[in-house]
Amino acid sequence: MEVVIRPTHEDAAELTARFIAHAIRQKPKLVLGLATGRTMEAVYHILVRLHKDEGLDFSLVETFNLDEYIGLPPAHPQSYRHYMREQLFKNVNIDLRNTHFPRGNAPDIEAECRRYESAIRECGGIDLQLLGIGRSGHIGFNEPLSAMFSRTRAKALTPATMAQNSPLFPNPEDMPRRAITMGVGTILDSKEIILLATGEEKAGVIAKAVEGPVTSMISASALQLHPSCHVIIDEAAGSKLQNKDYYHWIFDNEPDWDDYR
Ligand code: GLP
Repeated sequence: MEVVIRPTHEDAAELTARFIAHAIRQKPKLVLGLATGRTMEAVYHILVRLHKDEGLDFSLVETFNLDEYIGLPPAHPQSYRHYMREQLFKNVNIDLRNTHFPRGNAPDIEAECRRYESAIRECGGIDLQLLGIGRSGHIGFNEPLSAMFSRTRAKALTPATMAQNSPLFPNPEDMPRRAITMGVGTILDSKEIILLATGEEKAGVIAKAVEGPVTSMISASALQLHPSCHVIIDEAAGSKLQNKDYYHWIFDNEPDWDDYR
């Protein structure tokens, strides 16, 4: 795991977007895992800018979103498919047939989870997975006690997640209590991972995920086991980390980051 601390939310989002853009330029048929949430809006905004200003080409990119609420049809304004269409897809030259989501309104949820796992496999696996983190430590919707080897499945959401996400629904009572999510094992199979977290409200959970023990109580701590995971945070989200000086030194001095400074 590698930790990069940038001064502000905007800087952290810019670095994340530039990292994704670099990966797309290296491999135009990139299989890109995508995340939703408020934190990601700035990343998608910058990717749209890079598409318009620098011709970043999404035409061959294949995407797989991490999760979807159970019971919401794809056109529902709070569905993650709708979020992605509004935040990114409608503003870049992506082929919508190359964008994949678990179908939250599928008649057979277990069969849908198996279908999603095979679709990822058929594309050759995820090259780069983008992640946010929930206050419960979740990645995707892998709530506490999610098995490290778990695959795409239905998961019941915790009260902390309900409290975090329900204000995004016009009527908070309407937020589904279950979601389909890639498993921790599915996520760990990605070749490379970026986790982006910003703001003071994430400082506690970031300290646990990065410097705490690997535990299924904090699903994001499983990322410590991944050989190529970059955690990009702002100063506020990094405020409870013990080894900040070391992380700053790495970003300022390691040649891998030359293109991004
Ligand atoms: C949802 C998503 C997660 C995301 C989290 C963070 O719960 N399922 O993938 O990481 O939101 O949300 P925010 O960026 O709004 O804090």
